Amino acid sequence: MLMYTLGKRLRFSLFGKSHGPCVGCVLEGVPQGTPVDTAVLAHDMALRKPSKGIGTDRTEEDRVDIVCGVTDGKADGNAIIIRIANEDKDGSKYLPFEETPRPGHADLPALLALPKFDIRGGGQFSGRMTAALVAAGGIARQMLSSEGIEIGAFCRSIGDIEDTNERTISDARASEKFPTRACSAELDILMTDLIMSARNDADSVGGVVECVVTGLPIGFGGIWFESLDAELAHAVFGIPACKGVEFGKGFGITRMRGSESNDAYRMDGGRIVTETNNMGGVVGGMSDGADLVFRTAFKPTPSIGIRQETVNLRTGEDAEVEVKGRHDPCIAPRAVAVVEAVTALVLADQMERGL
Ligand SMILES: Cc1cc2nc3c(=O)[nH]c(=O)nc-3n(C[C@H](O)[C@H](O)[C@H](O)COP(=O)(O)O)c2cc1C
Repeated sequence: MLMYTLGKRLRFSLFGKSHGPCVGCVLEGVPQGTPVDTAVLAHDMALRKPSKGIGTDRTEEDRVDIVCGVTDGKADGNAIIIRIANEDKDGSKYLPFEETPRPGHADLPALLALPKFDIRGGGQFSGRMTAALVAAGGIARQMLSSEGIEIGAFCRSIGDIEDTNERTISDARASEKFPTRACSAELDILMTDLIMSARNDADSVGGVVECVVTGLPIGFGGIWFESLDAELAHAVFGIPACKGVEFGKGFGITRMRGSESNDAYRMDGGRIVTETNNMGGVVGGMSDGADLVFRTAFKPTPSIGIRQETVNLRTGEDAEVEVKGRHDPCIAPRAVAVVEAVTALVLADQMERGL
């Protein structure tokens, strides 16, 4: 069986495809006795589901079936196997892409490089696979919570609609009530309008997801290739449609002077704190005690109804393709739960490794 693995001590292995019987994962290394609250998992899964209008019309129940590894609500020390059934499948619209691959999607390299690639729903490149990530991330999140580490993400921007306010983990939590995962009702309306106008044009838009982590002690994380930012960036880039990751001020820091960008330290009631958070809470690959803050860029959904130029792989001629079927006009709102889950898996793995 093909599996895609993340982590060293807490090992997450993803399997399945969009139009197979299920997607799922094997999660190894969850300490025996870790509470696994299925209500928490159901809550996280609901946040990944498409919202009416701004999401795909594919409707999946997304019931998390824990096949083994959890007994009486606690991890029992064995590998946890999770299965999420694929119920709402319609593969007919995808077969033309075997000849005329969609620009921006994985069709072209996958058809040429992978034997027996099942293109229906995008196969293993589908956003559907992220359901298993979110389920496993919910377990990792429960491991972190018991150590006082909390994760929250929200939509920082959709297209050119940008939230310019300073945001905290409470704002991220509050975004759960808005379908776009914006932090305010006003931004939710603006972002919804933009997504709906792209959808009405048979087009798509991109967006930026910002993630905030609180409770990391100073020194949490590894160095060099095991650093907090290196391992997070590695994992987050694995999420389909991710095109960029930046920590703190990110690329913007290059327009500052060192005297502006360095986060000064001071004492606060016996604790070392930083005055500002331009580094996004990470220096030398380890936490400096400030909130960990990073942003992830999600490209516009590749599957769009507008006619596009492509090639015909059978005839070897130029061709055109028009994508039919059900697609998210914007990936970012649904990716918020996915970024949180991937972050939880990476941090829980680093915690288990004692970094
Ligand atoms: C939550 C989520 C939902 C997605 N929904 C769609 C979709 O409806 N249609 C589509 O073409 N791509 C969708 N994608 C993106 C594709 O899976 C992705 O663009 C494709 O696998 C190519 O990979 P790349 O963009 O990382 O190069 C989604 C991604 C995520 C994370």
